[in-house]
Amino acid sequence: MSLEFHQGRLFFGKDIDLTEILKKNQGHACYVYHLQVVKERYQSLVGSLQSDYQLKVHYAMKANANKDILKTFKEMGSGVDTVSGGEIAIALDNGFQASDVIFSGVAKSKEELALAIEKGIKQINVESPQELIRIGEMAKSVNKKVAVAFRMNPEVSPETHPYITTGMSENKFGMDKSFLPELLRILRRFPQNLYLRGLTMHIGSQLLELTALAEGIQKLRSIYHDLGVLGFAMESLDIGGGVGIHYKNNDDEEDFTLIQNYGAMVRETLKDYRGELIIEPGRVLVGRCGVLLCQVEYIKQTPYKSFAIVNTGMHHLIRPALYQASHRILPLKEQKEASKKLYDVVGPICESSDFLAKNYPLPKLKQGDGLAICDSGAYGYSMASTYNAHAMPNEFSF
Ligand SMILES: Cc1ncc(COP(=O)(O)O)c(C=O)c1O
Repeated sequence: MSLEFHQGRLFFGKDIDLTEILKKNQGHACYVYHLQVVKERYQSLVGSLQSDYQLKVHYAMKANANKDILKTFKEMGSGVDTVSGGEIAIALDNGFQASDVIFSGVAKSKEELALAIEKGIKQINVESPQELIRIGEMAKSVNKKVAVAFRMNPEVSPETHPYITTGMSENKFGMDKSFLPELLRILRRFPQNLYLRGLTMHIGSQLLELTALAEGIQKLRSIYHDLGVLGFAMESLDIGGGVGIHYKNNDDEEDFTLIQNYGAMVRETLKDYRGELIIEPGRVLVGRCGVLLCQVEYIKQTPYKSFAIVNTGMHHLIRPALYQASHRILPLKEQKEASKKLYDVVGPICESSDFLAKNYPLPKLKQGDGLAICDSGAYGYSMASTYNAHAMPNEFSF
């Protein structure tokens, strides 16, 4: 599914006329989601991973918790991976069963854990010994048994932006093997209240190269085996998310090739594994389903730069400012002439980091022109804010 011009206007797929939507939204910035894109990607990913283990997808809803997107995942049989009490509540409100919910994150508060324990969610991914003690004590106080998985830090180094690596020794996430004796001692203190159901890892996001991921899975598998030998009834391996998308490409063929390669790598790495295999994908499933529409407020020409000042920015899509991420930008109106001009596409926020692109080639723009910031379905709206007291963008899904 791609963005294509029909009779001079940019459409999302065949039917979604983006100019119409921007008009309907009175020119204000808004996100548009194409749910078919989510379905196609989910099916491709699940298809590529079929093997002798029992696959369960837990969509990482931090990527995009739009109601229609959540409903789409629910209907396809996915569970969710959550990272806060707020996300657990949203998941349950949107029809997910507690048994469909995993809870990850390094700083789970007592209130968040109380909610997870009370609802009886499927699994809490534990990030530190102190967290495990807290869960054990809280479970004991309400006389419950809680299923946990240890989040291991496999100490691998994926090729991605340093802000989104999570599986290296310097990162705050997970625990290396040296934590195990202490964790097992804590488990033995709470035999009626803690139950180790598996291991989990997540080494980083926007991975286009899979070697570090394969290495991490092998390490996780080996610890899993050792714990089984020690008598723990291990039943689940959770290998996290992280598969990226090719933001620079217009067509999504390379994304589907990466999904197939990921599936082949996982099947090969876990060919003798028969338990439950959990994956927590986010970006690869929803990144391409969204565009952020906006309008040019002003064109400002300086001796050094041409600025296209638009009515959206880092408050709606922070990825360029935070990770130096590049998103393709397309005009909503097709321009036939080949000549392009280099623009800095910037927003209204009083920060110089408020840009969507720098030196980006676009046809000559004028005030009022509509633009689509492409591939912004993941970590777009979910990281948006009302900074400078701007409104949150509307969302439309089809
Ligand atoms: C624990 C965990 N699981 C899954 C994900 C999803 O990652 P991605 O969107 O790269 O697939 C994240 C994202 O940071 C995460 O922290």
